Amino acid sequence: MTTTTDTDRVLIFDTTLRDGEQSPGATMTHDEKLEIAGLLDEMGVDIIEAGFPIASEGDFKAVSEIAANARNAVICGLSRANLGDIDRCWEAVRNAKQPRIHTFIGTSPQHRAIPNLTRDEMADLIHQTVTHARNLCDNVQWSPMDATRTEWDYLARVVEIAIKAGATTINIPDTVGYTAPVESADLIRRLIAEVPGAADVVFSTHCHNDLGMATANSLAAVAGGARQIECTINGLGERAGNTALEEVVMALKVRHDIMPWQTGIDTSRIMNISRRVSTVSGFPVQFNKAVVGKNAFAHESGIHQDGMLKSADTFEIMRPEDIGLAGTSLPLGKHSGRAALRDKLRQLGYDVGDNQLRDIFVRFKELADRKKEVFDDDIVALMRAGEDPA
Ligand code: KIV
Ligand code: ZN
Repeated sequence: MTTTTDTDRVLIFDTTLRDGEQSPGATMTHDEKLEIAGLLDEMGVDIIEAGFPIASEGDFKAVSEIAANARNAVICGLSRANLGDIDRCWEAVRNAKQPRIHTFIGTSPQHRAIPNLTRDEMADLIHQTVTHARNLCDNVQWSPMDATRTEWDYLARVVEIAIKAGATTINIPDTVGYTAPVESADLIRRLIAEVPGAADVVFSTHCHNDLGMATANSLAAVAGGARQIECTINGLGERAGNTALEEVVMALKVRHDIMPWQTGIDTSRIMNISRRVSTVSGFPVQFNKAVVGKNAFAHESGIHQDGMLKSADTFEIMRPEDIGLAGTSLPLGKHSGRAALRDKLRQLGYDVGDNQLRDIFVRFKELADRKKEVFDDDIVALMRAGEDPA
């Protein structure tokens, strides 16, 4: 029997506009959301979660317009487990070429306590709401929120109910970033092996980064059989954020040797969308952020700069062009060596001999001890100061 896990294609489900925007302070305007959705569609994201239509009139409008404009991506809206939410979600996504309804409910003991439902009552509600969603739309995703803290027997039971009611994707959220990679892989593997009907649906992973393990957990889930990764640009999202799209996509590309799964993402568009999301959300990208941080392709120390000038693979495992960056940068600072200084001087049009280089290197180090970074203008000023005034 062929199952959905036999494919080597991993779907990328981006939730920057829903879970990402839920991050306190990250609200985007209508036009900004449309722009980001367009960029996600162009870069090859398979499914765009465009918002939570019941949350506000503005969210409803944004999801509807994104749905109407999407070219290739499936457009998904989120809804809680009630019929009114699901109807509103369907109204917003129905104009998409490929609409999806995503409905969820918290299934862990911590979350079951909130609506004060017994296990059986919640199971009935899941059956009712997923059936309703499926009567409206052929493409239905269901999520047991806080799945990784839900008792195994209950999780397996409700996943089976959702599949029987017509869910086509089962998303397993690590809502509070609690799981670890071995557990993440085992949980998906066990659900696929033991839940009746599991082979007929796509399993998805949705990880939060509270312990810094979201990327590792998402990739482990794929090793366990998940074929959809939910993620956001720059890892934007609640608390410590969600799995970062650029990290999982580049990890699958760079380490294809041990993770033989493909995405449909045009990685050369990563840097541009990262910058746009940072600008419109108002969330700066940390300098040392994997893949898209300012320092991800920058080298200041003498040994590293010398290595990079001889061969790029000494200290880089990705090519900057692969994410849409013009090139590596070798900023000059107090850790830099002669090779980088000579290279910079050449770029600035100064061809210096060894003696002159020795002299300017001493003055460069004195300056670098006083300044965090030495810029091109500083180097030019050093050269001018050393020129014979006659
Ligand atoms: O983190 C989470 O559980 C969610 C669900 C709504 C999928 O974002
Ligand atoms: Zn989430």
